[in-house]
Amino acid sequence: MDVINAAAASDFADRVVRWQRLSGRHDLPWQGGRDPYPIWLSEIMLQQTQVRTVLPYFQRFMARFSTVKALAAAPLEEVLALWAGLGYYARARNLHACARQVVERHGGIFPRTAAKLAELPGLGRSTAAAIAAFAYGERAAILDGNVKRVLCRHFAIEGVPVGRVEKALWSLAESLLPAGPDSGGDRGGDGMEADDVRADDMVADDIRAYTQGLMDLGASLCQRGKPRCASCPLAATCLAHQQGREACLPTPKPAQTRRQREAVWLLLTDGRQVLLERRPPVGIWGGLLALPEGLDRLPRWGLSALELEPLPPREHAFTHFRLKIRPFLCRVAALPLLAGEPGMCCLPLAEARAAGVPAPVAVLLGELEGG
Ligand code: ADE
Repeated sequence: MDVINAAAASDFADRVVRWQRLSGRHDLPWQGGRDPYPIWLSEIMLQQTQVRTVLPYFQRFMARFSTVKALAAAPLEEVLALWAGLGYYARARNLHACARQVVERHGGIFPRTAAKLAELPGLGRSTAAAIAAFAYGERAAILDGNVKRVLCRHFAIEGVPVGRVEKALWSLAESLLPAGPDSGGDRGGDGMEADDVRADDMVADDIRAYTQGLMDLGASLCQRGKPRCASCPLAATCLAHQQGREACLPTPKPAQTRRQREAVWLLLTDGRQVLLERRPPVGIWGGLLALPEGLDRLPRWGLSALELEPLPPREHAFTHFRLKIRPFLCRVAALPLLAGEPGMCCLPLAEARAAGVPAPVAVLLGELEGG
């Protein structure tokens, strides 16, 4: 990517802003306000997750933790339980760590710039910029997966958008931002005049609409599968559209054969309760309650592999690998006494499913309850 086509870049931001105001999303529960707390919470939840999936989680979190202080004061286990089902659990752990940092190091007030926000746990450059744009009207560029797709198509940028290509995309994203307050010429004088304040407010409003507009375009018209170019405000200058190459841009990552891991899960039950174990704090489903793993645990509980009934195996896909799960049911007259076994607990079957367990554990428990 050497030269960015000047015609393609001209009034790019204006068209995105105008389109967002007419056709973008305006009624999401985290929109409209300037409080960084709900904006931050939504942006973390929206990383790799669609709006419709996030909505009920966002509502539950706001109902339970109405401020960053309330979230910071909660035990991590409660946050993980409320997050269960949303996936990518490192986000929940970082969310909690971030809330605690905001309270402990910043007096409960989110930092006021994208650069400072990006120092907090779980906040990459793009998420920090989105929060700064929405909450403070800062002229900060975002570059999430959707925005990469819009830019790669519009400017016909070749190459997988990582590394060198990603770096170039960041420069491009910054160059395309709506004009700042100083770009209209000399404001004259030293003091802040009423006109200057109005101009700053307009810039901030444009930045908000532009940031949301890029997100909305990527999530609606400029989708990966079937872009709807006929309705797109950028189609007239979109190089991929002109060249009929929407389907091959952005350049896809080379297909990777995903590694496979295996796990044996033990579903130990007396018909009323089930044995659960809290997973280690790091690693997959870190900190969540789940089924105990591994046949080697059985002798400690006075059980043998002969007492196990194999259940149908299943798979769970993570970003970098597939987990092949081999579940075994073990019906016992009485659950083992767990004195001295840290992290183990017995819960009634119905309660266990609601205790914030990983999705495949919830499915298994549901199957068991349904007979
Ligand atoms: N994806 C990431 N942030 C978003 C937002 N604020 N609105 C809609 N989709 C998003």
